[in-house]
Amino acid sequence: MDQCFANIVICFGMILIFRPATGYHQAMVSDRLENVTQTISRLLEGYDIRLRPNFGGEPLYVGMDLTIASFDAISEVNMDYTITLYLNQYWRDERLAFSNEEEILTLSGDFAEKIWVPDTFFANDKNSFLHDVTERNKLVRLNGDGAITYGMRFTTTLACMMDLHYYPLDSQNCTVEIESYGYTVMDVVMYWKNTPVRGVEEAELPQFTIVGYETNDRKERLATGIYQRLSLSFKLQRNIGYFVFQTYLPSILIVMLSWVSFWINHEATSARVALGITTVLTMTTISTGVRSSLPRISYVKAIDIYLVMCFVFVFAALLEYAAVNYTYWGARAKKKSKKSKDDEKKPGTKSIDQTFQTQNEDIIELQDVRLSPIASIRNRHNSKSNTCGEIDPSKFPPSFRITRSSYNPSHRTPGLRFRGARGNPIHKPKVLHAIKKGASALKASMPKIKDVNIIDKYSRIIFPVAFMLFNAGYWLFYFFE
Ligand SMILES: *[C@@H]1O[C@H](CO)[C@@H](O)[C@H](O)[C@H]1NC(C)=O
Ligand SMILES: *[C@@H]1O[C@H](CO)[C@@H](O)[C@H](O)[C@H]1NC(C)=O
Repeated sequence: MDQCFANIVICFGMILIFRPATGYHQAMVSDRLENVTQTISRLLEGYDIRLRPNFGGEPLYVGMDLTIASFDAISEVNMDYTITLYLNQYWRDERLAFSNEEEILTLSGDFAEKIWVPDTFFANDKNSFLHDVTERNKLVRLNGDGAITYGMRFTTTLACMMDLHYYPLDSQNCTVEIESYGYTVMDVVMYWKNTPVRGVEEAELPQFTIVGYETNDRKERLATGIYQRLSLSFKLQRNIGYFVFQTYLPSILIVMLSWVSFWINHEATSARVALGITTVLTMTTISTGVRSSLPRISYVKAIDIYLVMCFVFVFAALLEYAAVNYTYWGARAKKKSKKSKDDEKKPGTKSIDQTFQTQNEDIIELQDVRLSPIASIRNRHNSKSNTCGEIDPSKFPPSFRITRSSYNPSHRTPGLRFRGARGNPIHKPKVLHAIKKGASALKASMPKIKDVNIIDKYSRIIFPVAFMLFNAGYWLFYFFE
């Protein structure tokens, strides 16, 4: 009981001892607050917000530094990028000096509306906003000697003209251009602080790596005067990874898939045509996907070259099958026609009149043959008649032999044939004739393919080697440009 009473007494004693001290402290705080309030009110008394510090005298020096909070997006379609920044501006306003000591007052952002602040703007800005959650993200710090730190945080979309010739193996140079809107170099001169940019190392971008940055300042001559412009430029290297997996690798695989056709029997027409057309269509789809994320620029980009070449390879594989198929079936048709002609030649008992008539018809037809636009037929005919003056009608396809059933070379009248031959060049333009001659010469110089499998056999080597060479050239050129 005694103990307890003693405790209570001690407690009361302590309260009595401390009370006056707390009261004294509170008084000091309120004194100081009143002092500061008075100080600020005194500072703003008669302060003209419209006039810059040092008005009419030396230009005002405004220091700048900024911190990158984040790189938000880079858009090739709009040619801009979005970043969130902390921008700090430093200057000195003698009218706001309030003490000789190193004293700093941090005030609310609203204070900036009561004092003069620089009219800084971003020359390449498209759209910006100040963040205002939970309050406007601004700070004002006032030093005893009148030095002011004015900071804010905002997100801005800045124009960045990109050169996409090397896309997606490109690097871009995007800038932040800071300038005073109204004050020329006679009034306000901006400069970068000692550590102008912070936070670049920490900034992360999904598609780019920030390789480096640099700050510059220069004088910009505009219609209304000469302004000091500060610029910060980032060098952004595009990361190829996304495109390797999204575009290059699928394209390579599709091209390889088109080669599978060379190992399929040439008689499996549906399999080989389906493979060819599928690969061509897939290449088209890949190109469309790439194009959707790019602006409609007219020049050729690195990725265009690759996709077009892949398309050409895939298309060539399809054409290769067309060549194989044509060579094979063409050869067959010739063989067949020869055989059927031999069969028709055997039965031949006819009246002389009939024979004579068919002879004439043959001669006319042979003239037609000589005029034939199909160079091979004409050529074959010419070489035969030149060497031995003999015409073997079996060489002509069925369409030229409607009435050749009782044909006999011994009944032929050479005069008639030559008359027809001489008559030709008069009616035909000489140029056309020359072209035909050239074409037939070309045809003759081309090697005759006996086995169609040989085309496939060569393609199996030529296509992969050509594609590898193209790839080597492409990657060497774009990595060491
Ligand atoms: C109030 O301001 C005066 C000068 O303006 C200064 O001498 C004094 O120490 C200040 N008082 C406090 C409590 O800060
Ligand atoms: C970006 O381009 C500007 C103007 O062409 C140049 O002054 C600056 O050095 C470049 N920046 C980088 C990081 O290369």
